[in-house]
Amino acid sequence: MAALGITIILLGWMVTLLLISIWKHIHSSWNLPPGPFPLPIIGNLLQLDVKNVPKSFTRLAERFGPVFTLYLGSRRIVVVHGYKAVREVLLDYKNEFSGRGEIPAFQAHKDKGVIFNNGPTWKDTRRFSLTVLRDYGMGKQGNELRIQKEAHVLLEELRKTQGQPFDPTYLIGCAPCNVISDILFHKHFDYNDKTFLRLMSLFNENFYLLSTPWLQLYNYFSGYIQYLPGRHRKVIKNVYEIKDYVYERVKEHYQSLDPNCPQDFTDCLLMEMEKEKHSSEPLYTLDNIAVTVADLFFAGTETTSTTLRYGLLILMKYPEIEEKLHEEIDRVIGPSRIPAVKDRLEMPYMDAVVHEIQRFINLVPSNLPHEATRDTMFRGYLIPKGTVVIPTLDSLLYDKQEFPDPEKFKPEHFLNENGKFKYSDHFKAFSTGKRVCVGEGLARMELFLFLSAILQHFNLKSLVDPKDIDLSPLTIGFGSIPRHYKLCVIPRS
Ligand code: HEM
Repeated sequence: MAALGITIILLGWMVTLLLISIWKHIHSSWNLPPGPFPLPIIGNLLQLDVKNVPKSFTRLAERFGPVFTLYLGSRRIVVVHGYKAVREVLLDYKNEFSGRGEIPAFQAHKDKGVIFNNGPTWKDTRRFSLTVLRDYGMGKQGNELRIQKEAHVLLEELRKTQGQPFDPTYLIGCAPCNVISDILFHKHFDYNDKTFLRLMSLFNENFYLLSTPWLQLYNYFSGYIQYLPGRHRKVIKNVYEIKDYVYERVKEHYQSLDPNCPQDFTDCLLMEMEKEKHSSEPLYTLDNIAVTVADLFFAGTETTSTTLRYGLLILMKYPEIEEKLHEEIDRVIGPSRIPAVKDRLEMPYMDAVVHEIQRFINLVPSNLPHEATRDTMFRGYLIPKGTVVIPTLDSLLYDKQEFPDPEKFKPEHFLNENGKFKYSDHFKAFSTGKRVCVGEGLARMELFLFLSAILQHFNLKSLVDPKDIDLSPLTIGFGSIPRHYKLCVIPRS
């Protein structure tokens, strides 16, 4: 009898939950974009392939149109797909959708710094960071020189491999990591430095784990999953380890701060902190500075590093493209001078290849989640404040009309019939609008200069037949992660 009673109570409870959920859905979605019907608790999880969420979004867009609603966990999500709708969200409604949707694995950064900040301090932190980055990027000791110096070090390290096979993950990753480290901490690491390698392995592991199916689930169902064991714990632990490292450097900088002679980005933020010391609501605290610097440290390393690594794999698959690049480099730069930014104007093929690498690898397919900062009428729908908005980037980068055969790697996507570089407004690998990538200029410069320098001095040699190189991502989610591989670099002269 007791068992029957409990069963009836449980059933009654579940039916009530179901009715509440349906009522809530119908009630709150009167004026929301269309979307599949959500189930209690799991919402639209069954409509998502957690192994490839970006692809699920594309499939749902084919069914429901360019703007549709999903429910995942406790979150209402509006996905925006295709050039017109994404542009509208990011540019025409730039203020309304400039919030940042929560990414639970980065709890330690929530509402601090730049990337994961959905609070009132975001605007000023971003503005000040951009100003300082611009100052450090310009002038004699600007980013071009910084990257060129690092390119010399990278070439030297590549020479040391003596034509033997190596995994490019860390060797190549050291270069962008040192560039951003110089800007942030005025610090250059040796390529064998244990701390340096440890930090890069944390960045690398997190970018990989964040793109795995489990972390997609965690992202939406963190309320339930947080207490379970699993890889989300590793990501959170890594985030803390990176933040702790940066916090220590910030404290060291604070102790040796000379306000008359700021050495780096961290010093500039600390000076701002000193200026507003007596304010009742200071923008900068040591903690906020540490998060801001940590944001730039990993965003500035892992994105560029993964793009370079993926790029080299692509070039090994297409030796004829590599050959054309050698020819252009030899003609424009020659064998000895280090590549410079001005060369880009005379190197349309390299420019097109770099763009095509970024388009093809689709590094951040679904963008970072945005959030509605207020109730907003958009295309006749009412999107309530707090709704997560996902302006997908792959829907632009893989647009069939703009880039015929988008699944194929073709530098011609960015070349006109005269072989000149062809601009495409669909190229939004760095997103656009109020949240556009803070490091776009730096990343573009690094990709062009590092790739040019590597190909100026080396031929790439694959360990497998180029035809057998698999360019599909190892995993896709937050990012699009290339498969592991080794290569040889053979000196050209
Ligand atoms: C290939 C290289 C890179 C790619 C593809 C890339 C891509 C992106 C994307 C898609 C976003 C999200 C924009 C949005 O929310 O709408 C973003 C944000 C951001 N990126 Fe990058 N990024 C790259 C390199 C860098 C570098 C080198 C830095 C640092 C110097 C950096 C710092 C940031 C920061 C701080 C944000 C957050 C902006 C905000 O929330 O206001 N990124 N990036």
